[in-house]
Order: sequence, then structure tokens, then C-alpha cells
Amino acid sequence: MVSKTIPVQPFDLVVFGATGDLAKRKIIPALFRRYIAGQIPDTSRILGVSRQNLSNEEYNVMVKGFINEFVPADVYEKNEVTRFCSMIAFLSVDLKADKGWKELSSFFDAKSNNIRTFYLSISPSLIDSCSKKLNEYNLITLNTRVVVEKPLGTDLPSAKMLNDTLRKVFDEKQIFRIDHYLGKETVQNLMALRFANVLLEPLWNNNYIDHVQITVAETGDVNGRGEYYDDVGAMRDMVQNHLMQLLCLIAMEPPAHFDADDIRNEKLKVIRAIQPVDLKDTVRGQYVNGDNSFKFHVNNTNSKTESFVALKAHISNWRWAGVPFYLRTGKAMSKKLSEIVIEFKPLAHSIFPDLGENYQNKLVIRLQPEEGMTLHIGVKEPGPGGMRLINAPLDMTFAQLAGQVDAIEAYERLIMDTCRGDQTLFMRGDEVEAAWSWVDKIMLDWNKSEIGPIEYNIGCNGPAEAEELLTQDGRSWQ
Ligand code: BG6
Repeated sequence: MVSKTIPVQPFDLVVFGATGDLAKRKIIPALFRRYIAGQIPDTSRILGVSRQNLSNEEYNVMVKGFINEFVPADVYEKNEVTRFCSMIAFLSVDLKADKGWKELSSFFDAKSNNIRTFYLSISPSLIDSCSKKLNEYNLITLNTRVVVEKPLGTDLPSAKMLNDTLRKVFDEKQIFRIDHYLGKETVQNLMALRFANVLLEPLWNNNYIDHVQITVAETGDVNGRGEYYDDVGAMRDMVQNHLMQLLCLIAMEPPAHFDADDIRNEKLKVIRAIQPVDLKDTVRGQYVNGDNSFKFHVNNTNSKTESFVALKAHISNWRWAGVPFYLRTGKAMSKKLSEIVIEFKPLAHSIFPDLGENYQNKLVIRLQPEEGMTLHIGVKEPGPGGMRLINAPLDMTFAQLAGQVDAIEAYERLIMDTCRGDQTLFMRGDEVEAAWSWVDKIMLDWNKSEIGPIEYNIGCNGPAEAEELLTQDGRSWQ
């Protein structure tokens, strides 16, 4: 089987915030990788925009630096960088005033029907003025798309305000809200596994599934983003978006079609069906380690912000009633791991003592490191010596089927999807609002509570209370 790279239509892409961290680490490297993969036609144009005064040449030097730092040297030739850079120009624009907007208008050929994408990799406080200017200078055509990133609000009212701002000038069909977790290979594979096979669907419910665990653990700390993170915390930074999206893909009903709105309708139903979480079913933690603690990293000795969350959620619908979903995420933990575990119910009656009376099948869906899926099943231990059973991992990682194709990064996939106009892997405004509404209630309870985050040591699995969340239910984290 050979993986196919289908070129997208030539496009004009304007990256606002072109000198920022996201452009450096993700957007430019992703564009370059897709370019060398042959997916971006040479006639496409990329315009970097920021407040800085840089010439095209100076920005090109910067772009080469981004590629040098974030794309392994052995995957490209030097002349590919030169060719890529010839598609890129730079413009200094003031998002709050008129400087640079006329020049931005003249970047576009009014007669061209090219897809026009505005990637707003800018502070949320600038989105309003930037979209108004795009509108004022008549830069929004029917073929225009706008890409926005987290944070998509910090609570329900601010998320609504952001949605209103965008919808004043863009149609919902033009708005691409990125959650990079949706761009991960395994996430798409999860949809294939669930909806392209007859095998799992009959088991995918409260008759057969005991519980679900979603873990997104990071070894890194707040990593120089102290100020941002102290305002946000793990609940808003990770649970409201990444973990919530994973939960939706596990729990959603099969959509009628593989179509962006059909899928997003089903995800929305899940979010709306998640019950409010009881305070006692949440654990928040903050990492400590002498002078290297969270409070020191965020430069706030009184910080009550959580760098770790674990919680138990329930979905009130026929499929999932009674099945707990345990969610956990944290920084400065023992290992970097993003994993979903679907634990099936124990056998009704076990006739094989080797497997233990409570033997349970497990499906482990790993997003990172090493994306893949493993189904844990009971099999006979091969060889002579009678009938002995073992729990064997059935590896369902099929990357090798695609031949020598390098894994594609989430941002590469998502940026190409914006060019194709495919919103399947992007969040719709109502989904984002529903997720905030659920999170806001938890945050409110936390803020009212006398008890702040529980301390945990750097390099462990979070506070012991997070283990208890499961042990009290007779379960344990994978
Ligand atoms: C981002 C968060 O959205 O996701 C970061 O803001 C976090 O705090 C990151 O580190 C994790 O992404 P990944 O793909 O490395 O798991």
C-alpha cells in the first residue's frame, strides 16, 4: 500500500504573528514539510505579517532558522529551502491602526480566485481589531478561511465574545478553530476503528465497557510560559479542549456521514450530555521541587493554579450511563504519554484461572509517544505443556502499511485541511462554548473551595488522591 500525497490547490496564506513562537515551532516547519512532500504547489504564496519592520530577505533568514531548528536536516535538500523561501514575503502591519493594510490589500490579486487563508496566530486581544481591519479593507472573499488557535476564550462569556467577533465578519464555514490533538494520526484512526468496522460497535457501550481512562501526561514544566499558564492552569489549557475532544471521539454516536457538521453535531451532543462534575470527583495538583516549583516558575508565591487535574465524568445517555470516564493531565510528571484506555467488563464467568477471575480485555489507544493501538486479549500460551492462558497485546499499529512515509505532524494535516476547506478536524463555535460551560462549573466550585491544589513532586504521577479517585471505585490507572 502506498500513501498518497494529493497536492492542494494553490493558495495565498497570510500568517499574522509570523515571527512568534507558534510560527517558529509549528506553522512554518509544517508548511515546509508539506512543501517538500509535494503537497503545496509552487504558485502558492505565503505572507508573513507582524509588527516588526523586516525586509523579505530578513524574514527569509528567520524562516531558514525556523526550519533549521525544527525540521531534521536529513529530510530535505538545501535547494528546497531556497525554493520554499521564494514563495514567502513579509509585511509589517499594525493590527490596531492603518499601517500596512493598503500594502496587504495589494498583495492579493483581485481577479484571482485562489483560496485565501488568514492564520491569526496572535494574542486573543488582537483578534477583534484584526478581523475588523480585514473586513474594512475588503480582504474577505467567498474563498477566504480564517484560522484561530487556543485560547478560544477563558470561560463561557469570553468564548461567546470571541465567537461573536469572528462571526461578525466570517461565516462559521470559514472559521477553522484548531485543536492540534484532532490532527494527530491516532485520532483519525480511532474514527476509522470505530466506524469502519463492525467488530467493536456492538461492544461499544455500557453493556461491555467498564470504564474509560484518558491520560495526557507531560514531563515538561510550564516551560517559560509561566505568566500565561498561571492565568489558565491545566483545566483550561488541556481539559477544556484536548481531553474533551478525545472524550467526544470515544463517546460520540456514529455520524450519518463522514462530514464535518455531522461529526461535530455528534460531538456536541456528547459534551451537552456530560454531567456536571462533583467537587469530590476532581483532584487538582501543583508540582513542587524546592526552588524549581510551579510557584517559582510562574513567579507567583501565592499561586493556586493547578498544573495537574484528574477527574471522573459521567455521560448521561443510553450508551454510556454508568460508565465512568477518568481524565487526567499534568505537567512535570514521570513520563510524556497521551493515551486512551478502554477497559471492558470482566468475563461473566471465567473458566481459565491463569487469566484471573476478573480478567478484562483492554483497548489502548496511544497518541504519543509512538502512536498506535493495542488490544489486550487472552490467548493460549504457544507451545506444549497443556492449556495455559496469557494476556497478549495485539498490536494494531499499521504504520508500516504506508511504506516509508514519515509520520505527519498534526499541524501539517490541519493546515492542509484549511486549504482543502475541510472542517472535520476543527472545532465548531457551539462545541467550544458547550465545553466551557461544563468547565466553568468545575472552576467555580474550585474557586469557592477552601482547599487549593495538592502538592506533588516533580517526576511522579500527580497527587496520591488521583490514584484514589480510581481505587475507591475498585479500579486503577493503566
Ligand atoms: C498545548 C498546551 O495546547 O498542548 C501546552 O497549551 C501543552 O501546555 C501542549 O504542553 C501539549 O501538546 P502535545 O502535542 O505535546 O501533547
